Amino acid sequence: MLDLLGNTKRTHYAGKIDLSLKDETVTVLGWVHRRRDLGGLIFIDLRDVEGIVQVVFKPEKEELHKKAGKLRNEYVIAVSGKVIPREGKNINKDMKTGEIEIEAEELLLLNKSAPLPVQVNENLLAEENLRLKYRYLDLRREKLQKIIKLRHDVVFAMREFLTKHNFFEIETPMLIKSTPEGARDYLVPSRVHPGKFFALPQSPQIYKQLLMISGFDRYFQIARCFRDEDLRADRQPEFTQLDLEMSFVTQDEIFQIMEEMFAYIFEKCLNVKIPTPFPRLTYKEAMRRFGNDKPDMRFGMELVDLSQQLKNSEFRVFKGALEKGGSVRCIVAPQCASYSRKQIDALTEKAKHVGGKGLAYCKVDEHGFSSGISKFLGDNEQKAILKKTGAAKGDLILFAADSNKIVFKVLAEIRNHLGKELKLYDEDEFNFVWITDFPLFEWNEEQKRWETAHHMFTLPKEEHLPYFENEADYDKIEGQLYDLVCNGVELSSGSIRCHRLDIQRKIFDILGFSEEELQQKFGFFLNALKYGTPPHGGIAPGIDRIIMIMSKAESIRDVIAFPKTLQAADLMSESPAAVGEKQLQELHIKLLERDEN
Ligand code: AMO
Ligand code: AMP
Repeated sequence: MLDLLGNTKRTHYAGKIDLSLKDETVTVLGWVHRRRDLGGLIFIDLRDVEGIVQVVFKPEKEELHKKAGKLRNEYVIAVSGKVIPREGKNINKDMKTGEIEIEAEELLLLNKSAPLPVQVNENLLAEENLRLKYRYLDLRREKLQKIIKLRHDVVFAMREFLTKHNFFEIETPMLIKSTPEGARDYLVPSRVHPGKFFALPQSPQIYKQLLMISGFDRYFQIARCFRDEDLRADRQPEFTQLDLEMSFVTQDEIFQIMEEMFAYIFEKCLNVKIPTPFPRLTYKEAMRRFGNDKPDMRFGMELVDLSQQLKNSEFRVFKGALEKGGSVRCIVAPQCASYSRKQIDALTEKAKHVGGKGLAYCKVDEHGFSSGISKFLGDNEQKAILKKTGAAKGDLILFAADSNKIVFKVLAEIRNHLGKELKLYDEDEFNFVWITDFPLFEWNEEQKRWETAHHMFTLPKEEHLPYFENEADYDKIEGQLYDLVCNGVELSSGSIRCHRLDIQRKIFDILGFSEEELQQKFGFFLNALKYGTPPHGGIAPGIDRIIMIMSKAESIRDVIAFPKTLQAADLMSESPAAVGEKQLQELHIKLLERDEN
């Protein structure tokens, strides 16, 4: 028989009971985390939102003891009893409440639980898909509870900080016309307008710019964004940005306010001081030194360009790459000359996985170079390579030769992998860096047309405006674009926007939009730009990724209460799911016969 709660009230949270409550009678409510029967005594670890406290049932209180003997894991109970200090070896230093226990005087059994399909225990983790199916149970785990609470603290601190700095939190619609952010839209069919669709926002980009035109000056929003794109460990189809925008602002001012905000959040929520201002690196420098635009700068192992030193190389691979206008670059893996063939093959596979044709290597020993491609390198070349790289005895040199794009990709991949494998950095460091001066346009070789490198509502650098006159100069045009990177993760992206219609039109011209297409896609926005648009700019830190970094979570799924799988599905509610014929009819939708092949 179950008990009713009646007038029973919690006097204290389980996880907060300590010696200061000695001899007091307390009432705690929660779940049976664990039951142990020891020499006639029954111990229950009672768990609530704040933690765990040990309750002891003595055999002298016969009825109570008998009732306690029937408790099973995850039963829901209320216990009243006296707080008693533990003594000697019974003190548990690993537990917040380990210096006391509650000697039970009353017990209510409020609910039973079926045996759990996944355990509430870090050491007994079920396979992830099963945990996602029973996410509400998986969320009972201490690790996930901590992360979800940290997430609350962080969002609260953001609201607090921005409100203090004169930002207004304004909601923008979820049902919108698609915003051009690059990924596919999630579409929502309209019942009222047959054959027409809303899109869920990929970000509130256009709306926040409209709010600047409306004169709100400083806006922010904890904004849910939806993108139908290929998922990875740090991408979800539905994620959250701290979206913000400011009027009459320069890039430096945005950097400063973000640096202050991150410093505030890390100090308040993690008690960690992060040094400000954050260092800055141009996109070009980031590529040259680290091979990507989100460099993990907690360690060195920078890329070295050897194209000059190897310009006369007879080695087929190097020669071929240089003749085609590419480059030969390397990284030096410290003290890795002992790597086995198998280890090097594994690195080569990684290089191939990101598009490389291979990964040449040689080892440095007391006589010079050995193994790998050393036989293809003359004495002078070896000397020049040692001089430029600073490689020393015992090191392993890894070379990539190809177009710059592929060389950067390959070496960045290998560098990140080795950084982790060789533990070249301090796991507790938070290393922030701004990446600036991104190109505005990129040439798409396949489609033979210009594309935006980031997004198309960005103001070019003022000194680059003359480059608009000549197509040969388009790739020199840099935008006032910036990313904030931490430990090799792109945390935020933003730009100073194009507030001038004449410049915006030039950008659209280069991207090859027809007038009709422009009007159809963003006529309303272009129209709005006419009416006294202030200079403005902003940024959008990804909240999920911030929490990942702060909590050192391996997967983005660990920082979202109810995440989707890598296949963009919710295993718990089994969605997406088919809908009934009637619902489809109302929405004027007819499904195509699916070809199962
Ligand atoms: P962007 O598309 O770069 O910029 O996104 C900004 C930040 O959002 C996070 N993010 C994601 N997080 C999880 N899953 C995803 N699928 C995902 N996609 C992006 C990242 C990223 O840095 N409107 C512009 C911002 C602006 O210019 O103000 C935008 O959305 O942390
Ligand atoms: P191969 O003669 O093709 O077997 O290549 C000789 C060595 O060069 C092997 O170690 C390959 O992994 C490596 N290699 C091949 N292509 C490249 C490339 N584009 N960049 C760097 N190394 C390469």
